[in-house]
Amino acid sequence: MSTAIEYAQNHREDHLNELFDFLRIPSVSTQPEHDADIQKAARWLAEAMQAAGLENVRVIQGVGHPLVYADWLHAEGKPTVLIYGHYDVQPAEPFELWESPPFEPTVRDDFVYARGSSDDKGQVYVHVKAVEALLKSNGRLPINVKFIVEGEEESGGASLSAFLPENKTLLAADVALISDTGMPSPEQPALVYGLRGMCYVLLDITGPRRDLHSGSFGGGANNPLNVLGHMIARLKDEEGHILIPGFYDRVRPLTAEEREMLAQFPFDEQAWLEETGVPEAWGEPEYSLIERLGARPTLDVHGIIGGYTGPGGKTVLPAKVHAKLSMRLVPDQDPAEIGRLFTQYVEAITPPSVRVNIEITGAAPASISDWKMPAMQAAVSALEQTFGKKPVFMREGGSIPVVGEFKDILGLETVLMGFGLPGDQIHAPNERYYLPNFYRGIESSIRFFEGYGR
Ligand code: BES
Ligand code: ZN
Repeated sequence: MSTAIEYAQNHREDHLNELFDFLRIPSVSTQPEHDADIQKAARWLAEAMQAAGLENVRVIQGVGHPLVYADWLHAEGKPTVLIYGHYDVQPAEPFELWESPPFEPTVRDDFVYARGSSDDKGQVYVHVKAVEALLKSNGRLPINVKFIVEGEEESGGASLSAFLPENKTLLAADVALISDTGMPSPEQPALVYGLRGMCYVLLDITGPRRDLHSGSFGGGANNPLNVLGHMIARLKDEEGHILIPGFYDRVRPLTAEEREMLAQFPFDEQAWLEETGVPEAWGEPEYSLIERLGARPTLDVHGIIGGYTGPGGKTVLPAKVHAKLSMRLVPDQDPAEIGRLFTQYVEAITPPSVRVNIEITGAAPASISDWKMPAMQAAVSALEQTFGKKPVFMREGGSIPVVGEFKDILGLETVLMGFGLPGDQIHAPNERYYLPNFYRGIESSIRFFEGYGR
């Protein structure tokens, strides 16, 4: 056993207590009342990086929430790994559904419950501790590392997008490493080679100048809520096919090799049904569930604000309605083009009796990485040594916008080596992180650095 692994195993309790301190900071990036907590989390992380032995530690203030940078670059002739993560978290609402407070980490049955425990504080911290273990036990790292950790992944990532093109030299590396994804079960490690992209849309439909009496005006003035219902029904058919003309034009077909690999994937459909609580799986019948979840594009409505929702009834034609929707994209769909196609189509199906306003608020390309590159092989053996089982390769349906930007702007491929589990409830109440995965994450990271440096 390497001395660094031994060090990590002897310091588990300290590492866990530090993680708890990190989790106590409510760094919710979308809510302005948490701006001070965002700053606090950035400083906390910077100090932890300094203490781990990283150098050039900086909290970089920019257009939005700060970025945290650190490096260690003394492994001459060895490759450089750029490690990315995010210290911001999703809002914890609805609070009343949490069994223990979201920002008071609590351990139950080998899981720590806290907002951000799995997504992503508990995952990014793995690499800080791996660096510490290597530096404290060997005095050096087998490779060069750079960290860039952002504070607004959950709210658009504007700061990092602006930072990348201007700091190509600072961030130059051979490969990127991100732990912000999951694995199918505690025994089965995974490497994610594909992520979906995203196009997020705010839609406003306005009709009458003010709410109207539905008796006096109903049947004569169109109702924006009814119009929205018709529109949604024309965006996607009942089997899940998206009806926007041109939407699928650039979708790269799945190869026979990939479909075969996905078919071998140890996917437990029964467990998936239990976890989601849906009566049955649904979606494009020509694709398997696993393909629909990661390798096919989707369109979903996330929220509708409109009309009367208070107690009792109110007979009104609402003056306006707002809806939030998004499309998850796959290679090679272009998020900007998808935004245009969506806008054209919705404008075309808008009846002249209402007005529509469309705002595209988020756009990120899908990504797919080369699962045969050397860094991926180093990740395969690091996971295999740590978990005692070869990792599976999987596509993930969620989005990590920076992966596409790393490729386009820095020319980097990314290794997505994540330690989340399907039941982690990320973005939901009672988010949790499996503690053995925190420790195995640290060990996997150490072995990745050692293996990739060889
Ligand atoms: N860590 C997630 C991405 C993810 C989700 C990985 C599910 C594995 C499983 C990430 O923090 C996230 O939630 N991303 C957002 C991005 C969006 C706001 C642009 C997402 O996918 O909704
Ligand atoms: Zn995340």
